[in-house]
Amino acid sequence: MTKKKLLLVNGPNLRLLGRREPEIYGRTTLAEIETACRELAEDLGFELECFQSDSEGALISRIGEAPLQGICGIVINPAGYTHTSVALHDALLAAALPAVEVHLSNIFTREEFRHTSITGSACIGVVAGFGKESYILALRALAARLS
Ligand code: DQA
Repeated sequence: MTKKKLLLVNGPNLRLLGRREPEIYGRTTLAEIETACRELAEDLGFELECFQSDSEGALISRIGEAPLQGICGIVINPAGYTHTSVALHDALLAAALPAVEVHLSNIFTREEFRHTSITGSACIGVVAGFGKESYILALRALAARLS
């Protein structure tokens, strides 16, 4: 039987994880996070595709393609676009797939401009503040919703 497909989307600057402000974002690389998420998805009976881009347009296009490619749910860290992107919010709504927003840091204890998530209201839930564990929790929550 073919497994249901999930999509992990990471936004701008997250390819620098491990080197980028490690006191905030930790020392785990994006490749390590993707591997851990792929393994967990397998254990939960799903297949996981991973996508990272610094470009808002590329993120929007990937999300737009997702339903056509049989993706049934999305975990997304929109990074800086969380706080700015109506277009990414609209892309998530247009895809009409359950999505969970994830942040490594607790955006609510940081600068005020990070306290608002534009994209979060297009998601079924938001996990923030647990470092790489945020991704694991988000993936588990999405899988539970879909099972
Ligand atoms: C982030 C939080 C955002 O405010 C920031 O712009 C990021 C990373 C996080 O995972 O904690 O790039 O999404």
